Amino acid sequence: MYSEKVMDHFQNPRNVGEIENASGVGTVGNAKCGDIMRMFLDIDENGVIREAKFKTFGCGAAVATSSMATELVKGKTIQEALEVTNKAVMEALDGLPPVKVHCSLLAEEAIHAALWDYAEKNGIVIEGLKKPKADINEEEPKEVY
Ligand code: FES
Repeated sequence: MYSEKVMDHFQNPRNVGEIENASGVGTVGNAKCGDIMRMFLDIDENGVIREAKFKTFGCGAAVATSSMATELVKGKTIQEALEVTNKAVMEALDGLPPVKVHCSLLAEEAIHAALWDYAEKNGIVIEGLKKPKADINEEEPKEVY
């Protein structure tokens, strides 16, 4: 069901932890499954992400996607980090089962939330960055009865 990469990042997650005095911190959740992800970014004066760490209280796929997301954004500029979408994270993990796609959305939104926090702290506008939702469940289509 899960790719080897997903299993690897779930069992040996990279970049777990917190960054003290992080440049940006973002917390997102999904009210439906109850999973929560917090992302910490350390961004240097040239807008390059020096360090990324995460804490995830959630399912195995949420842990694996946050681990991969932090790996992907490290060393990137803010604009490049915006291209680390949930699709990019899933591709880097060799895919996720359909019921677990929302877990990767959490990772994308957590990056955006941390960048949003960074922008607010510094009074800047990041082109192409929309205000992140605290609950990614809001994005999912409403069930029709
Ligand atoms: Fe909700 Fe994985 S089950 S984030």
